Amino acid sequence: MELVSGKGRSVPKSAIREMFALQAQYDRVVSFALGEPHFSLPEHIRQAIEDSLRRGETHYTPNSGIMPLRRAISEAYERERGLSYLPEETLVAPGAIAALHLTVSAITDFGDEVILPDPGWSNYRGLMIQEGLVPVPVRLREENRFMFDPADLEAAITKKTRAILLNSPSNPTGGVADRKNLEQIAALALRHDLIVITDEIYRELIWTDEPYVSIAEFPGMRERTVIIDGFSKTYAMTGLRLGYAVAPLELMQTMNTMLENVYSCVGESVQWGGVAALTGPREPVEAMKAEYQKKRQLVAAGLNGIPGISCLPPAGAFYAFANITGTGMPCRDFAMELLREQQVVVVPGTGFGAGGEGFVRLSYATGEDTIREGIDKIGAFVHSRNG
Ligand SMILES: Cc1ncc(COP(=O)(O)O)c(C=O)c1O
Repeated sequence: MELVSGKGRSVPKSAIREMFALQAQYDRVVSFALGEPHFSLPEHIRQAIEDSLRRGETHYTPNSGIMPLRRAISEAYERERGLSYLPEETLVAPGAIAALHLTVSAITDFGDEVILPDPGWSNYRGLMIQEGLVPVPVRLREENRFMFDPADLEAAITKKTRAILLNSPSNPTGGVADRKNLEQIAALALRHDLIVITDEIYRELIWTDEPYVSIAEFPGMRERTVIIDGFSKTYAMTGLRLGYAVAPLELMQTMNTMLENVYSCVGESVQWGGVAALTGPREPVEAMKAEYQKKRQLVAAGLNGIPGISCLPPAGAFYAFANITGTGMPCRDFAMELLREQQVVVVPGTGFGAGGEGFVRLSYATGEDTIREGIDKIGAFVHSRNG
């Protein structure tokens, strides 16, 4: 008897987790694998969580989250971004990925097509397949600073297309969509009557001088956009599992009904941690951002100093997407042999879609010494191949 469904069998394994598992074979590795802040939880957030536990808040909460958190999200969006959403137009989830899952369930019917960035975060493709949807990858090119080319997007739209998924700043490329690009995508979404899901989890980690732009800001887009956001990256809260979606009320009401069937609610103490994150001091976030800036420069300069490797300065997030075509090696061989010979872990670009061939991803959310050692070892590896 076959226990696993066809869709279950079709879900691809995560290349990031695969590399993470392989590194366990070695006593010591230099790892650029995981997209996870290495900072500790800011003290005021820890305090808020502990206070909540001491108050005995260990019970169910309203499905979409406690009102103080939903209000804090709504106020932060208005204050920091000029985006007006009612608290009722927010929904709290155990991580941005859960908010995305719920969004996809609520807006699609089986067999709908969803356009995804390629390269793009690998979970997008897996999630679409397990939801019975058809992922449609559209190539992002380095020469276009890893933004969608509107002509490529338009060519991928069919009668079955339901949504376009954007991710800016991007995992894995570190690319950030500019205003003109988003305006063109918005025009396409309006013309073809599509929903846009915009995964903005890295929006505070932005290294360009331009202010962050969301596609939800363009005329006619608020009504057809779902914003996915969360606390994991900005506040070093990955393991606490706290994310949210922001969308028009009508959709939120359905998502609220649907979430009862999947996770009921998020732990109340963690939600109070989210309130503290949004309403408390900004210094811890600014300090983490200053560190990322330094590391970003270190990693980009280091990679660009290796003959055969080049890397655009990452515009956002904490990933460098290094072009290794000059080494003549396919990216998977590069990653595997680098691990075997130098015990350095990078993720092959094809782990993020076929469009990632010729690239490897390095997460620089790690210590400066690790970055220096890793870059030296990558240099030695490439040199040994060329020499
Ligand atoms: C683009 C992107 N979206 C969402 C997530 C998941 O965030 P969360 O931890 O809130 O589920 C990640 C985590 O790596 C990510 O890279």
